[in-house]
Amino acid sequence: MKGIVLAGGTGTRLHPITISVSKQLLPVGDKPMIYYPLSVLMAAGVQEILVITRPTDQPLFRTLLGDGAHLGLDISYAEQPQPRGIAEALLLGADHIGDDSVALILGDNIFHGPSFSRLLQREADQVDGATLFGYRVQDPERYGVGVTDADGRLLAIEEKPARPRSNRAITGLYLYDNEVVDIAKNIQPSARGELEISDVNAEYLRRGRAKLVDLGRGFAWLDTGTFESLVQAGQYVRTLEERQGVRIACLEELALRMGFIDADACHALGAAMPNSDYGRYVMNVARELTGDVEYLPAG
Ligand code: TTP
Repeated sequence: MKGIVLAGGTGTRLHPITISVSKQLLPVGDKPMIYYPLSVLMAAGVQEILVITRPTDQPLFRTLLGDGAHLGLDISYAEQPQPRGIAEALLLGADHIGDDSVALILGDNIFHGPSFSRLLQREADQVDGATLFGYRVQDPERYGVGVTDADGRLLAIEEKPARPRSNRAITGLYLYDNEVVDIAKNIQPSARGELEISDVNAEYLRRGRAKLVDLGRGFAWLDTGTFESLVQAGQYVRTLEERQGVRIACLEELALRMGFIDADACHALGAAMPNSDYGRYVMNVARELTGDVEYLPAG
C-alpha cells in the first residue's frame, strides 16, 4: 500500500498565522503537525509516502522530512498549486499509487487511540473498495456522516446533513483499492470548483464497495483547523505525554518499533537533537531496546 499526506490548503481560518507558514508545519505539542498523519501511515506499515503541499511550502517540508530514508521511508513530493479539493490528491498521486492500493490522510488530522496500529494494519491488508473511519461526534451536522445498518455496513454518506441520521463523522483517513484512480479521474468538480472526496466515496458506495470502520469511544480524533482546536490538540498531546512519559507521533520511535530502522540509527537521530526533550526521548527509546535505559526527569 502507498501513502499520501495531503498538506496543501490555504488555512484561512488560521490567518494570519498561516499567511506565511503552512498549517501542517505548525506545532502541535512538541512536534510539527504533519508528524501526526505521517505516524498514522507508518503505523499502518506504509513506507512509500507522497507529501502534497503548496508549491511555496515544499522546500520547508523537504528540510523537515528529506527523502525519509533516515526513518526507513521513501518520501516524495508533489505540488498542489490551488486547493482544488481533497480528491485532487488522488490525481496528483496517480503515478505514485501505480497499481497499488493507497492510504490518503489529511495533513491536519490527528488520531490517537488504543491498538490503532493493529487496526490499521488489519484494514490495510484487506482493503477491497473504500475503507472509511467513523468517529462519534456531538455535532454531526458539521461533517460528512456515515449511516450504517445494524451490522455496521455503510448505507449512505450524508454531507453536513441538517437532520443527521447518524452521529458518525467520516474522518480524514481513507483507504482505497486501485480503482480509486479511475474513480477520481471521472468525478466532476463541485459548484465550488473542488474535486470532492465525498464524490469518490459516494461512487464506491454506489458500487456497494464502501465500508465504515467505527473508531471506538476510547479514541481521539482531533481537528486543528481553527485556533481553538489547534490549541486544544496541543494541550491534549501535552497532557498525555507529560502524564505517561511517552510520546504520540514520535516518528523515530515509530520507525524503530515498526522495524524500519534499527536501534543504533534511532539513537543517532535523537543524538542529532541533544538540546531538546524530544531528542533525548528518542535516544532513550533506542536505549530501552538495548536495555540501557536512562529515565528522563520530568520537565
Ligand atoms: P481544510 O481545513 O478544509 O482547508 P484549509 O486547510 O485550507 O483551511 P481553511 O478552511 O481554514 O481555509 O482542509 C483540510 C485538510 O486538507 C488540510 O490539511 C488541507 C488539506 N487540503 C489540501 O491540501 N488541498 C485541498 O484542496 C483541500 C480542500 C484541503
